[in-house]
Amino acid sequence: MIPKVRIHLICTTVGHRGTMHLGLCLRVLILVALTVPIRAAQPAPETFTLTVPDGPTTTLSGSSVSLLCQVSPLFNVEPMEVCWYRSSNFHSPALLYKDHKIQEAPVDLRYKGRVSLTGGLERGNVSLTLERVTLEDKGEYVCQVTSEQWYEKASVFLTVNVTGSEPVLSVAEARGGGGQVNVTCLSEGWSPQPKLTWRNKDGTEIRNEQEVLNTSDPQGLVSVSSWLLYAPSYSDWLACTVSLSEEMKREGRILPHIYTAPTAVHGVSKEAYIVTLVLLILSLVIICALCSVILWKRRGSMWCSSRKSRNRSDQTERGQRPAETKNLIEGAENTVQTPTDQRAAGKELNLEGAENTVKTPAEHIASGKEVNLKDWHQVKGFKENIILNDKTAHPAIRLNKEKQRAHYIKEKDTEKPSVRKHLHVFSKESFSSGQHYWEVKVKDQSTEKLSWYVGVARENVERRSNVPLTPRNGFWILSFDKEKGFHVNTDPQSPITVEELTIVGVFLDCDRHTLSFYNVDTESLLYTFTDVKTSNYFPVLSPGQLDKYTIRIN
Ligand SMILES: *[C@@H]1O[C@H](CO)[C@@H](O)[C@H](O)[C@H]1NC(C)=O
Ligand SMILES: *[C@@H]1O[C@H](CO)[C@@H](O)[C@H](O)[C@H]1NC(C)=O
Ligand SMILES: *[C@@H]1O[C@H](CO)[C@@H](O)[C@H](O)[C@H]1NC(C)=O
Ligand SMILES: *[C@@H]1O[C@H](CO)[C@@H](O)[C@H](O)[C@H]1NC(C)=O
Repeated sequence: MIPKVRIHLICTTVGHRGTMHLGLCLRVLILVALTVPIRAAQPAPETFTLTVPDGPTTTLSGSSVSLLCQVSPLFNVEPMEVCWYRSSNFHSPALLYKDHKIQEAPVDLRYKGRVSLTGGLERGNVSLTLERVTLEDKGEYVCQVTSEQWYEKASVFLTVNVTGSEPVLSVAEARGGGGQVNVTCLSEGWSPQPKLTWRNKDGTEIRNEQEVLNTSDPQGLVSVSSWLLYAPSYSDWLACTVSLSEEMKREGRILPHIYTAPTAVHGVSKEAYIVTLVLLILSLVIICALCSVILWKRRGSMWCSSRKSRNRSDQTERGQRPAETKNLIEGAENTVQTPTDQRAAGKELNLEGAENTVKTPAEHIASGKEVNLKDWHQVKGFKENIILNDKTAHPAIRLNKEKQRAHYIKEKDTEKPSVRKHLHVFSKESFSSGQHYWEVKVKDQSTEKLSWYVGVARENVERRSNVPLTPRNGFWILSFDKEKGFHVNTDPQSPITVEELTIVGVFLDCDRHTLSFYNVDTESLLYTFTDVKTSNYFPVLSPGQLDKYTIRIN
């Protein structure tokens, strides 16, 4: 570096504080040369370099990351100036440290409250810690350290991994026929571009000569799609896996045959349509015939039974049904049920195909009725009873079941004042699709609970007691604490303003990945998590710490 720069730097530093001319600048230069060795424990060397990672630093959206940068040789950087900026945005840096403190301005407001220097400047570590990373944060960052004699800069590249949607698979007739079907796989919302692979039932990768198509949206999220020609099969499913790494992957499966939903008449060939119609009419005729046979039989049996019961009036008076009548009725019931049973069985067979197909577009549309989250009355319609799984309960939790329905949940021995983490219980059943609503009574008029939480957890959540309950660790919850009030566990927690809450309504929309909490008394929405991304949800609830009062599932 040339000496001209050195003087220039000092001048600008001084110039910020006041208007000083060059003569003063030179005097300051002498002063600095005298004072620096006294102030710093390890004096800054004449020159230094910066050590940064070779490759890009990757992180997940929503998490925290450290962009590593260190001076070499190591020395105390506290008296220096440290600046982190996006390569295109030198004038409003993400973080500026000067005059022994982090400066309020000029800084990029997008980073406000999310950046810090936690590595220890006295040890020469100028790494930038960035919290709550978003996709917007990806890109090149410059780490710049300026001493009185020297300055140096180096770049760190940040990539933000985002897991996209579960792959949607569909089957269509192949153009040109040939007895094969055209299976398509589509997954949206990834960053960076993920890998897409096809596998058969045995897990063997299927080589596909067709290219994987990718498009990216304005936010930079990538969608990938691929299609494959395959021999139709009703038992050997195909899997489409979209992944960034072993941990960040999503898979969809489908049976490669053309499933025709009853309503999807278009897209079905004319022949198939006629055949279906004929079958429908035929089955109607059969059902009518059966019905009339049953009716006829019934009328006969009614006549029989009335005659018989008159003969054995002594028996019927004692409440015993004559054996013959019973048999006849049973027989009649059986005949009534047969056609329905057959239809039900037929439906099941069809559905089985549909279920295995993960989510065909048709199903997406079928379930596409929007629920207005603000409208509690609409959400309430999905109410169901949640059965808790005692086996998943924290050992200090007691479950009381009342009339098969309500569960009372409380801590066992609140006398022993030990702080217990993860004092909660999961439901027996998990949800992977559709809409679900349940209610938890968290307060009575007479009681005053100290704490509780309700929400959902991802399957296979860490059961260790020391992981914090955050969405990153697979928990989405609304909590109450007598001291801190109501919160949702965003990172950091967001307070929820509500005066009183006696019944919490929890609404989970697996298809739209949202989880909403309601105040049932006022029928109002409290909060909605919009990015509840997982494939399997377990309702979770906690009766709180050192709290002798119960909460209960309504
Ligand atoms: C520097 O600090 C960061 C955290 O800010 C830390 O992750 C990193 O390990 C530190 N580097 C060294 C060499 O100590
Ligand atoms: C298969 O379907 C995709 C769209 O889903 C289409 O682009 C492709 O041309 C189809 N291929 C054949 C052979 O039908
Ligand atoms: C799609 O992928 C190719 C090769 O992997 C890449 O060169 C191209 O930039 C990608 N396109 C988009 C829009 O991401
Ligand atoms: C992010 O994605 C890349 C592939 O693009 C992968 O190599 C890396 O392991 C992923 N990082 C994390 C933290 O999952």
